[in-house]
Amino acid sequence: PTARLTIDPHFAIGPINRRLFGSFVEHLGRCVYDGLYEPGHPTADAEGFRQDVIDLVKELGVSAIRYPGGNFVSGFRWEDSVGPKENRPRRLDLAWHSTETNEVGLHEFASWLDKVGSELMLAVNLGTRGTLEALDLLEYSNISGGTALSDQRIANGATDAFGVKMWCLGNEMDGPWQLGHRSADDYGKIASQTAKALRQVDPSLELVVCGSSSAHMPTFGEWERVVLTHTYDDVDYISCHAYYEEKNGDLDSFLASAVDMDHFIESVVATADHVKAVNGSSKTIDISFDEWNVWYIDRYHGVDKIEGVDNWPVAPRLLEDAYSVADAVVFGNLMISLLKHADRVTSASLAQLVNVIAPIMTEPGGIAWKQTTYFPFAITSRLAQGRALELKLDAPTYSTEVYGEVPLVDAVATHDDETGRSAVFLVNRSQTEAITVTVDIGGLGAVDILETHTLADDDLTAVNTLQDPERVGVHANESAAIDGRELAITLPPVSWTAISLG
Ligand code: AHR
Repeated sequence: PTARLTIDPHFAIGPINRRLFGSFVEHLGRCVYDGLYEPGHPTADAEGFRQDVIDLVKELGVSAIRYPGGNFVSGFRWEDSVGPKENRPRRLDLAWHSTETNEVGLHEFASWLDKVGSELMLAVNLGTRGTLEALDLLEYSNISGGTALSDQRIANGATDAFGVKMWCLGNEMDGPWQLGHRSADDYGKIASQTAKALRQVDPSLELVVCGSSSAHMPTFGEWERVVLTHTYDDVDYISCHAYYEEKNGDLDSFLASAVDMDHFIESVVATADHVKAVNGSSKTIDISFDEWNVWYIDRYHGVDKIEGVDNWPVAPRLLEDAYSVADAVVFGNLMISLLKHADRVTSASLAQLVNVIAPIMTEPGGIAWKQTTYFPFAITSRLAQGRALELKLDAPTYSTEVYGEVPLVDAVATHDDETGRSAVFLVNRSQTEAITVTVDIGGLGAVDILETHTLADDDLTAVNTLQDPERVGVHANESAAIDGRELAITLPPVSWTAISLG
């Protein structure tokens, strides 16, 4: 089979906000402890952070990092995580049935972010706490000094304010599993009140209100409408969360997961714009897709859950999915979906970063390694610069149980005026056929192929492990060639590809 697409730098979807390449660190399992933080590890720095993990995070190209949860934040008291370490309390983490030592808190995480060069995106607890505690955290974090809480921060060692711009108003408040779960109406009211209060301190804050935890929640759509009706003037973003997994051995449908992400984004955009119309507002709400990934949730519900009372471990191995080649192809396709909506998705967070459903894995005292999903993220973050482009794509289709008839190829392109470089990202969803894609690049003028990267393997279940950390990687795609105004490239079955042109 063959597919055709046309790239023209004039047909822009929108500028690519660097925040699209964000991630997420939750106090969950071994993400923080025995993940990015392990005093005593051979590569640990003076603060106990693993240098090998810092290097991998930098190479991954992560912009903003959402912290400290996730479900964790709905039971979190931020005051526990500051001040002398020896005085910090150990707490029950109700979300993950673990014990939180608070050895790493706000100051330590801010310092780690400086090392990896990422921005802090802070979530406040609107599950079991409220407006006042959110205001306190803002004062502690962002006021330069001369007030009780800002002076406390200075006394705790941070002379400069943390200067957090982006704030999440709680986490997944639509989910019955969430501590303090509320109706859309109740949540909309407290979110609006808290947003107004935070903005009384600093009108320039960028605020994210909770959307749905998945497009398959029973309240999806109506949740967004009601919550935005309460908060439209007070916030800048509404969140989306989505996790995908292969179910019932139906790989064909799993490979088309980005169709669901497209639908999710477009539905939330439509709902937000509906509220805009009703309000007669000139302001537009963007999407913060602040949790997305492949995640074998069924596996978690079956095996990982810690049962019992009085036995909750510190940093247990939870949600440590090992990602296959097929998972990485779907993952790369999810990034294509985000880029295809760059006009409205202006922030996104890969959930998560280290050990917990993560692109980076670590062994205590041992190595850190890249999962298969590391490659599409790092390459897309590096090559997708400037603006995302509208593509004219003609591709054969295949039929899926879950999404019906869908294209075998999905793609997006980007163009950067500053460097004159373009990039194309593609997936082939066919399990059996290689597909040759012809790209009309006439609109780009005279360009050369600068880089090609393809992720594919005869064994779609292959993974990188502690024992075999480099089993799966990307390779150059030697089939790529330019002839006149046409670029041709062959995509192997179940593959993800990136091409850089300039
Ligand atoms: O990322 C893991 C969990 O998934 C988060 O804590 C929660 O927000 C979501 O349900």
